[in-house]
Amino acid sequence: MKIAVLGAGHVGPVLARLALAAGYEVTIAGSGDPSRIEMITEFLAPGAVALSAADAVADAEIVVLAIPWHRFPSLDPHLLDGKVVIDSMNHWPPAEAPLGTSEEVARRLAGAQVVKTLNHVAYQDMEPAGGRAVGLAGDAPAALKTVAEFLERIGFDPVPVGSLAAGRLLEPGSPVFGVAARRQEFEKIIEEQS
Ligand SMILES: NC(=O)c1ccc[n+]([C@@H]2O[C@H](COP(=O)([O-])OP(=O)(O)OC[C@H]3O[C@@H](n4cnc5c(N)ncnc54)[C@H](OP(=O)(O)O)[C@@H]3O)[C@@H](O)[C@H]2O)c1
Repeated sequence: MKIAVLGAGHVGPVLARLALAAGYEVTIAGSGDPSRIEMITEFLAPGAVALSAADAVADAEIVVLAIPWHRFPSLDPHLLDGKVVIDSMNHWPPAEAPLGTSEEVARRLAGAQVVKTLNHVAYQDMEPAGGRAVGLAGDAPAALKTVAEFLERIGFDPVPVGSLAAGRLLEPGSPVFGVAARRQEFEKIIEEQS
């Protein structure tokens, strides 16, 4: 299975490394010409192939969105048609909005299946994953299964928290945000919030 990571900043290369270590083929893109991230890729995620965003996602089954929230409008939504998309983005400061941020992402990426996860883990804490519990939220059962398998394979313990709307439980300000927990503790915190 091929994984594309959009974003070559703090989060993107870490997830690319974890995916490579788990045996996935990985492509990675920044916002511009791939030559701009070749050095980053070579040092931080050797084995990942630096491409333009369009080329990076072309053959990928899973696309990880690891770009700043304010840059999301710069992404062509049709690139992600038919893809399973992991939304790891956060809105800073936390938004007082009627929809969760991943619901907004799903509205814009109408041709994709969006799963919210990993957004609540600081990039320094992602590696090694070490069986740390991560919440995942989504509306498409098949996409949730695909992403749960991916998370498990790269070393996390995926804990479903419900629909994409329930994904607000994972957003900044939530008690699980930035907290390193094992499954039991994670489930307890989520249960208390639901
Ligand atoms: N930092 C964390 O610990 C952490 C943890 C969990 C979740 N998050 C979330 O994850 C996202 C990324 O955070 P970060 O800290 O990794 O950000 P970052 O260090 O600022 O990196 C952002 C990357 O996104 C790329 N980018 C911007 N627009 C793009 C586009 N349209 N297509 C492809 N790539 C694009 C940038 O490329 P250029 O340099 O070419 O602009 C850059 O490589 C944010 O939404 C953040 O809230 C962060």
